[in-house]
Amino acid sequence: MMSAIITIDGPVGSGKSTIGRLLAKKLGYVYLDTGAMYRVIALESRERGIAAGDEQALAALSGTIDIQFKQTEDRQLVFSSGRDVTDAIRTPDISMLASRISALGSVRSALVGLQRQIGCHGGIVIDGRDAGTVIFPHARFKFYLDATVEIRAQRRYKEFIEKKINIDYNSLFLDIQKRDHDDSTRSIAPLKPAPDAAIIDTTEMTLEDVLEAIVTHIALNEQASLP
Ligand code: DC
Repeated sequence: MMSAIITIDGPVGSGKSTIGRLLAKKLGYVYLDTGAMYRVIALESRERGIAAGDEQALAALSGTIDIQFKQTEDRQLVFSSGRDVTDAIRTPDISMLASRISALGSVRSALVGLQRQIGCHGGIVIDGRDAGTVIFPHARFKFYLDATVEIRAQRRYKEFIEKKINIDYNSLFLDIQKRDHDDSTRSIAPLKPAPDAAIIDTTEMTLEDVLEAIVTHIALNEQASLP
């Protein structure tokens, strides 16, 4: 399997990005975090004073945005026009704004275009909400990670605490619930498993368990397709 496209979709805190990054590293693939792209649009629009409802200005921004990723040993850095925005795009405010902006069709089509360009040669693990349903419906392997909202909120809370960022657990919990609800009920490219995705409930699994389940699934299905 030299150059497959592997998609990982799922709600907030289901483990997509950590698993995506680890899986890509293991396979020697590129890792693409599509959520980070919506977050960069959210951050840039806020800084430029563009209203969340101004679809025309947001579409223009999405069509001209310069987003770069840089993989380091243990994380992926995100740059907007050369500026490191890795931490700035992870605040609760930007999470909510990214979700709101991501419902706009013209923003989505600009970013999906970029995502297809980045992934078209394969050898990529791509995570998001619509990676297996819209961006690459013909991906070789598709996964959908899920977990109870309680465990996902606890995971996110732990991440903030580890980064020494003070955050109220209850508002984090409510934000996650709202974001999942909005992302799953929007009319364009809502969050849902692709019909051919392998669904993994990670509620009672460690990261290592999930990674192993994915690697095993890939190995088994690769063999199954040999003559
Ligand atoms: O994966 P994330 O939490 O960083 O994504 C932030 C928001 O961006 C998410 O709430 C919805 C939106 N998003 C999307 O609509 N489609 C994607 N493929 C990825 C993210």
